[in-house]
Amino acid sequence: MIQLTIIYKFQFTATIFGPMNNAHSPIGIYDSGIGGLTVAHAITQLLPNEDIIYFGDTAHLPYGDKSEAAIQAYSIKIADVLLKKGCKVIVIACNSASSAAYELLKEYVRKDAHIINVIDPMVMHIAENFANTKIGLIGTKRTVMSGVYSQRLNEMNHSIKLESMATPLLAPMIEEGFFNNQISHEIISQYLSGGELKGIETLILACTHYPLIKKDISQFYNNQVNILDSSEVVALALKNHLEKSELINPKSSSTKRFFVSDFTPSFEASTRLFFGEIVHLEQHRLWN
Ligand code: DGL
Repeated sequence: MIQLTIIYKFQFTATIFGPMNNAHSPIGIYDSGIGGLTVAHAITQLLPNEDIIYFGDTAHLPYGDKSEAAIQAYSIKIADVLLKKGCKVIVIACNSASSAAYELLKEYVRKDAHIINVIDPMVMHIAENFANTKIGLIGTKRTVMSGVYSQRLNEMNHSIKLESMATPLLAPMIEEGFFNNQISHEIISQYLSGGELKGIETLILACTHYPLIKKDISQFYNNQVNILDSSEVVALALKNHLEKSELINPKSSSTKRFFVSDFTPSFEASTRLFFGEIVHLEQHRLWN
């Protein structure tokens, strides 16, 4: 019933958004916080001429422990912000939000913007490159409970054996700056030593925070396991879409703006970890 009410409201709201976007329009990117900057960074590397508008929902961080309905409501509010800024594409740079809100956002946004999630490009990548192998996956409780990666692989009738495990401590650990040190090694080892992921040849980092601990994880496996994160495959999926739709920005320079729903200086300081440089964060509340 709640779901139906939300969809009804979307259909009503979606018509308000103004002129159709074009090649000069920006790319909108959002995450629960600043972890999605790992994806934003890969996008700026691959598509340096695209204008970027990033939204980090720091007021509601973490998404990984939230209900599907709550993440859907936040995602719709953020999509409203990005559509009002005229974004031609919205990249959901968060696995938890991709698993909870992708279908709903597509329905809501319709023709006003194209939606890219972080899950489908990774599923395509493993389907093409890792057939008949055993793959592990770690992510938030929301992502793992959704079972979305297995569902997508089953829809493709694929022979990959996927074993998933929730690792809820990892995102907060990374946000606190604990990676590549004794504490991160200990926590990673506790999680990965369990039986679930025994015998894997490949591990998917199904959380956009985790690229920061890629090295630690690789070390745990003595560099014997392929560690995959979605940032580059998502940037490539975006590039392919822009090329196919003739929406590549023809300019030779770009602007980038970064918004958060709740500002603290510590978020700004942490952007360097995820984006490679400190970025200036502007506050934009989702609810007054
Ligand atoms: N970056 C989010 C993801 O990819 C995880 C962080 C959170 O729980 O908000 O799922």
